[in-house]
Amino acid sequence: MTSIDVEGLRDKVKAMYQAVADEPHGTFHFEMGYGLAARLGYPTGDLDQVPPEAIDSFAGVGHHLALADLQPGDRVVDLGSGSGMDAFLAARHVGADGEVIGIDMTDAQLAKARRLADRDGFANARFERGYIEHAPVPDESASAVISNGVINLCSDKVAVFREIARILEPGGRMSISDIVTERPLTEAIVCDVNLWSSCIGGAMQQDDYRGAIEAAGLQVETVQENPAYHFISDSAQGATDTFGVKSISILATKHREPDGAFA
Ligand SMILES: C[S@@+](CC[C@H](N)C(=O)[O-])C[C@H]1O[C@@H](n2cnc3c(N)ncnc32)[C@H](O)[C@@H]1O
Repeated sequence: MTSIDVEGLRDKVKAMYQAVADEPHGTFHFEMGYGLAARLGYPTGDLDQVPPEAIDSFAGVGHHLALADLQPGDRVVDLGSGSGMDAFLAARHVGADGEVIGIDMTDAQLAKARRLADRDGFANARFERGYIEHAPVPDESASAVISNGVINLCSDKVAVFREIARILEPGGRMSISDIVTERPLTEAIVCDVNLWSSCIGGAMQQDDYRGAIEAAGLQVETVQENPAYHFISDSAQGATDTFGVKSISILATKHREPDGAFA
C-alpha cells in the first residue's frame, strides 16, 4: 500500500463521484440508480419516499439498511453519503425525534444532497464536508453508523473503523455494505486508479476486513453476501472473476465489556 498516492487518489475519486452526482446517466464501470437499488432489495415503497434525483445517483453496493433496523429517535451518521439516498431513507425511519448526518468529501455530491434536503423538507438530515477517516462528528454521538460502497475507496481502512468506533455510543451499531475480495489483489489492480475509483482496486481481502473491524473494538454480528451486485465493464468484470471481488453487508456493534466498561 506504500505506493498509493493518497491525495492523488482522492482527487481521482472526487472526479469520479462529481460525475456520479452531475451526470448519473453517463457511462461508469458500475451500475447506479433505481433499478440497482430495487434489485439489491430496497423496498420500492421506501424508494418512493425519497428524492428521485438522489436515487439516480445512488452508487451503493448493498441494502445494509435491512440490517440497521433504524428506529424513531436514532442518531445516524452516513459515511460517504453521496447524493443522499440512504441518508434520506434513514431520515424517514428515524423521524422528527432522530437525526441523520451525511459526511462526504465530494462537493458536487454534498451540494446535490443539500439542495434535495432543502427542496423536499428533510429537516432532520444534514450533510457535512469531511473525510471519513476524520469525521466531523463528536465522540459517542451516534446510535448507528451506516455506509454504502465507500470504505473500499479509503486507503486507510483501519483508521475508518477506529473512527466508527469513536463515533458510536456504547451499544451502537454499524451497518455497512462494501466491496471485499476473496484473494488479495495484485499491485497492478491496486495501482489502476480507474479500478480503485470504481470500488475494485481498493477492496480488502475479506478476512483482513473483518479483522480491521474487530481490531477497532466492534463485534461482528452478521455478514451476508449480496450476489445481486455486480460490476458492468469488461475490465471490472475480469478483476471480479479473478480475485473474487464481491459485495457484502455487515452488522457490528460497539459492545459492553463484562466488567461494565465499554469496548
Ligand atoms: C460509491 S459512492 C457511494 C455513495 C453513497 N453511499 C451511495 O450509496 O450512493 C462513494 C462516495 O464516498 C465518498 N468518499 C469516498 N472516499 C471518501 C472519504 N475518504 N471521505 C469522505 N467521503 C468519501 C465519495 O465522494 C462518494 O460520494
